[in-house]
Amino acid sequence: MATPVKMESPLGARMMIGGREVDYYCGTSYFCLHGHPEVIEAACAATRQYGMGPGTLAHMQVYADLQDRLRDWFGTQEVVYMISGYTSPMVLLQGLRDDFDIILMDSAIHYSTRDAIPTLGKPIHEFRHADAGDLAEQLSLHVKARQRPAVLTDGVFPSSGRLAPLADFRQAMAAYEGALLCIDDSHGVGVLGETGRGSLQHAGLEEAGNFLAGTMSKAFGALGGIVPGDAALAEKIARNAMIMRGASPAPPGLAAAAAASLRVLQTMPEKRSNLIRNIKHMRSGLRTLGFKVEDTPVPIVTVKGLTDLEQLRERLAERDIIVRVQQAGGYSDAPNVPTLRIAVFSEHSPAQIDRLLQSMAELF
Ligand SMILES: Cc1ncc(COP(=O)(O)O)c(C=O)c1O
Repeated sequence: MATPVKMESPLGARMMIGGREVDYYCGTSYFCLHGHPEVIEAACAATRQYGMGPGTLAHMQVYADLQDRLRDWFGTQEVVYMISGYTSPMVLLQGLRDDFDIILMDSAIHYSTRDAIPTLGKPIHEFRHADAGDLAEQLSLHVKARQRPAVLTDGVFPSSGRLAPLADFRQAMAAYEGALLCIDDSHGVGVLGETGRGSLQHAGLEEAGNFLAGTMSKAFGALGGIVPGDAALAEKIARNAMIMRGASPAPPGLAAAAAASLRVLQTMPEKRSNLIRNIKHMRSGLRTLGFKVEDTPVPIVTVKGLTDLEQLRERLAERDIIVRVQQAGGYSDAPNVPTLRIAVFSEHSPAQIDRLLQSMAELF
């Protein structure tokens, strides 16, 4: 049974938990923006100016400013912003509802997309996790002539850190005219790709027919879901996705925090280069210890086997190093054996990472 964690400071590479200052390797604050002074100040200033919320419709300049900044960054005509990342796949898929006939879904897809699917009223079939061969097989079994499939997957899977093989998926879909690839890129946006636009950019797939839904709560230090796309997509979302009419957006302070997070990331390129350096350091260090770790640019690094992971986690915690053990089947994509999940942040120092690796070498 995991010890309850009591957080007493903003998320960060060093933070206060249970009265102690610890090295923190959990969660998703990949650039530690949740505690960044400019982000906090932006949230406070917007809250003072606009209060706690607009009461359903986002008719405040702070939302327009965020969307302008996101549009520039994604290089798209529009970026739709909504209350949470969890709802962003639903918003995307409801928007595209009339553009596909049948759904093919990765079997380990996140709850956010699973919960969205019943709202779409389409036939649904699963393919084996991250398996483009099985996707091809399921497409050939289930898609009838003139049907347009939508293939749904996470871009980066949140427990394992596995990257979806998007280019292979696209190849498997090549024979199906009008096929759509829709990804929940909550863990890719901000992190992957040459300028951080996520898994599609990383895979060289930022083109028509490929869509992402993302969040401002993980690489960015705020809250809210995002769907970038052209004006036609934004218009379809406004027409079909009732949450855009019938629910409040994230509070103004969070929209301002989201914009400030993106500004900080854009003006401090060293954050992204430090994250890349740290991911390489962690992954190669773990390989040296004998763990089988893939060489990807994903900041979620998992290891399994070799040792009693729960005991290792406890021993590390005694040294004020906090990592997470994901129990078998304990999350949407969790493998069927326990895994140690290590989240790498741009703000971890090389010395901190060495301390974790050295401790693991001594303890397992
Ligand atoms: C893959 C994935 N999608 C969506 C979400 C939900 O994002 P948010 O917490 O920003 O609502 C999460 C959160 O952990 C996630 O891991």
